[in-house]
Amino acid sequence: TLSNQKVVVHADWTLGTINKNIYGHFSEHLGRCIYEGLWVGEDSPIPNTKGIRNDVLEALQKLRVPVLRWPGGCFADEYHWKDGVGPREKRKRMINTHWGGVVENNHFGTHEFFQLCELLGAEPYICGNVGSGTVQEMSEWVEYMTFDGESPMANWRRENGREQPWKLKYFGVGNENWGCGGSMKAEHYANLYRNYQTYVRQYGDNKLYKIAGGPNVDDYHWTDVLMREAHWMMDGLSLHYYTVPGTWGHKGSALDFDEQEWFVTVQKALHMDELITRHSTIMDRYDPKKRVGLIVDEWGNWFDVEPGTNPGFLYQQNTMRDAIVAAVHLHVFQKHCGRVQMANLAQMVNVLQAVILTEGDKMLLTPTYHVLEMFKEHQDAEALAIHGTFGEYELNGASLPQVSVSASKKDGKVLVSLCNLSHKDAAGLEIELRGTEDSYVCNGLILAGDSIGAHNTFEQPDRVAPKAFDGAALSGGKLRVDLPAASVVTLTLEVK
Ligand code: AHR
Repeated sequence: TLSNQKVVVHADWTLGTINKNIYGHFSEHLGRCIYEGLWVGEDSPIPNTKGIRNDVLEALQKLRVPVLRWPGGCFADEYHWKDGVGPREKRKRMINTHWGGVVENNHFGTHEFFQLCELLGAEPYICGNVGSGTVQEMSEWVEYMTFDGESPMANWRRENGREQPWKLKYFGVGNENWGCGGSMKAEHYANLYRNYQTYVRQYGDNKLYKIAGGPNVDDYHWTDVLMREAHWMMDGLSLHYYTVPGTWGHKGSALDFDEQEWFVTVQKALHMDELITRHSTIMDRYDPKKRVGLIVDEWGNWFDVEPGTNPGFLYQQNTMRDAIVAAVHLHVFQKHCGRVQMANLAQMVNVLQAVILTEGDKMLLTPTYHVLEMFKEHQDAEALAIHGTFGEYELNGASLPQVSVSASKKDGKVLVSLCNLSHKDAAGLEIELRGTEDSYVCNGLILAGDSIGAHNTFEQPDRVAPKAFDGAALSGGKLRVDLPAASVVTLTLEVK
């Protein structure tokens, strides 16, 4: 155990509000995310509400999903929204060329997406098609969704059963325009962004928050060009970064990994901090008041697919390593809450670092799900300043801080979340809550496994689940915490 790691949480020093949208999700027409994972159709034997499976819906409702991004991803720049409205049996069938070459029957389209968001209580975030779509197509989609008056698109929406326009705030102008979204150079996309967004109209009192396609990982040039050429025409700029322990050719297994791969994965997850810092510094040059949000609309672990599954479906299992990576990311986003206004974990169900996996009518919650659930009171809370001296987590000559901490305050309650990055050593912490005269009671939860590869299966769906935590003792305004190796803990402090 590395003990005597001291942490000061400043109850009277806030860094800003943690936008609840940092806890956002992403669902793409990819593999079994939309079809099977969320949408089973109204005639399915799997119990559903208007085609959305009930078990998944209930689990997601518990998570308080603030915002959901759709329809892609790479799929967005090949998606033609008009194929996905009108009577379902008449909708076009096509091949999902990007993901697995399977038939896309367009049964899940605009109306179904808004229905899902409504059931979840989540804000919809729609990504438009720049790569293979036209300005007209994008403009008409916005008209279809948000225009209240007399117009061809608004009338078509009414014919299709929706009288009132929907409320839509978040709209992305293309996805990964440097890659699958058009292989463009920053300068070219900056021009296209200006062009397309002109026709992304604000109808009535529907105020759109326009998100420009942002950089890939550390492409700082991209951020500079987009901000220089168009910052006043955007509300957000996206950033994508995936944690890949190996290389894109051999990413590494989700289940079968050793301590070195654990270490490297956590190390690479922490790289998000540097990326946000540097992109944000560039944005500061053009936008010192931080009006433009950095929208990390794809993040998470990307491993090799589970053996025997379609390589284009990106189906991977989820262990305590994923839980640690999720916690680390959320802490980084909270630290940068002045700039990071949204983040969307990739992806919601059955794809990449999913919170839910399904198999037929069975469902399981992954360790990542539990982290988001344990952290949900951070949503819209005030982030608190933290100072501390942490021990080092060392392996094969490299080192990382052993513990990651974040804290926030909402409705008089303080939530401290802690994550022990070490795969083998416990951590002894002394946490001082400074800047308050109140005395508190503390309640804790812990997520930990019996091995670093601990995960849930359809046979044993609750092997990794939060339990009451008895490793924290409060006395004289100080919390003494024994944090087991490879664990995530939340402590809720309530005034006595
Ligand atoms: O999330 C999977 C894919 O990763 C998305 O479609 C794309 O935007 C990114 O490259």
